[in-house]
Amino acid sequence: MKLKHCYNYYDFRKLAKKRLPSPVFHYIDGAAEDEVTYQRNASAYNDVDLVPNVLRGVGNVDLSTTIFGKKLNLPFYCSPTALQRLFHYDGERAVAKAAKKLKTMFSVSTLSTIPVEELSLIDTPKMFQFYYHKDKGLNDVILQKVKEAKFDVLALTVDTLVTGNRERDLRTGFTSPPKITWSNLFQYVTKPMWGINFMTRGKFELPLLKDHVNELSNVPMTLGNYFSNFVDRSINWNDAAKLCSDWGGHFALKGIMSVEDAKRAIDIGCTGIIVSNHGGRQLDGSRSSFDQLAEIVDTVGDKIDVIIDGGIHRGTHMIKALSMGAKACGGGRLYLYALAAAGKTGVEKALNIYKTELERDMVLMGCTKISELSRDNLRFRYVA
Ligand code: LAC
Repeated sequence: MKLKHCYNYYDFRKLAKKRLPSPVFHYIDGAAEDEVTYQRNASAYNDVDLVPNVLRGVGNVDLSTTIFGKKLNLPFYCSPTALQRLFHYDGERAVAKAAKKLKTMFSVSTLSTIPVEELSLIDTPKMFQFYYHKDKGLNDVILQKVKEAKFDVLALTVDTLVTGNRERDLRTGFTSPPKITWSNLFQYVTKPMWGINFMTRGKFELPLLKDHVNELSNVPMTLGNYFSNFVDRSINWNDAAKLCSDWGGHFALKGIMSVEDAKRAIDIGCTGIIVSNHGGRQLDGSRSSFDQLAEIVDTVGDKIDVIIDGGIHRGTHMIKALSMGAKACGGGRLYLYALAAAGKTGVEKALNIYKTELERDMVLMGCTKISELSRDNLRFRYVA
């Protein structure tokens, strides 16, 4: 399997599996407990069928959308994901450059492995994902750096106050940085290129955290322990409102699943929400983001940007989410397998494939603009 043999999301996944030590692969690929939500995120799209229209003159298809006041050439973007230099030595740098090439948005996690100062120079819309730490001094430092780096949107993740029960990570002993033990040694020695790159392509660290916490950069720790020890579970709506006002720009809550929370997001000043269950990595049994989209769009869709992520693998999945009323689609694994497979070249290729799929699907749907997509083109197979 080579990059030239990757034609879709699933092919990139296969190539990533071939390139990565299994603890690292399963960190990306895995989800919480029985992985029911993870599976349902994707399968929910198969319970809705598309009804195309024909003979509508679809010579020019415009895939652009506007979110947070920024025009993106594509209605999909790279969602924030942690620890990207574990997947490829260029990490966030590769993803940001590929997003720029396609003129869409990239996002940077609090657990980024490339400095925000460097990523700020990549001229395309950018979102910063914020984890709210117990150490308020650390929160202030992160906020200040992200302001100076002139990110366009701050997204506070609200579904990860503790990490989900990711049993694959327990079995593989996944930590950051990776800790090689007798029991997982074989998994690493069988991927020598990954090991050579990891050792020689610059020190692995988390620039936003390293001066405050040694864990994850220098001292191996599980993400579960990181969140339990350092992230503030007592955060509430007042804290989120204060963060929104301290930031003073476009602000989103990432991980909204209920209509009630979507309404409160407006009250605290959000300009967008991300309907998400964290790729099924948090609360297993949580409803799929697509199943939950309609009621949220119906309540707040005319007031703020409603964005969705989770389970999106195909242009047709995006068509369904956008038809349901999402303004844009995000994805993490959507580009992470490609990053692991081939760095910037891989991500660029993956984004181009999704773009080509979407363009073709728009033609086949008889639509030339994202705004022409609507629920008139959707039919549910099963009525709940
Ligand atoms: C994860 C967190 C860190 O899903 O975003 O692994």
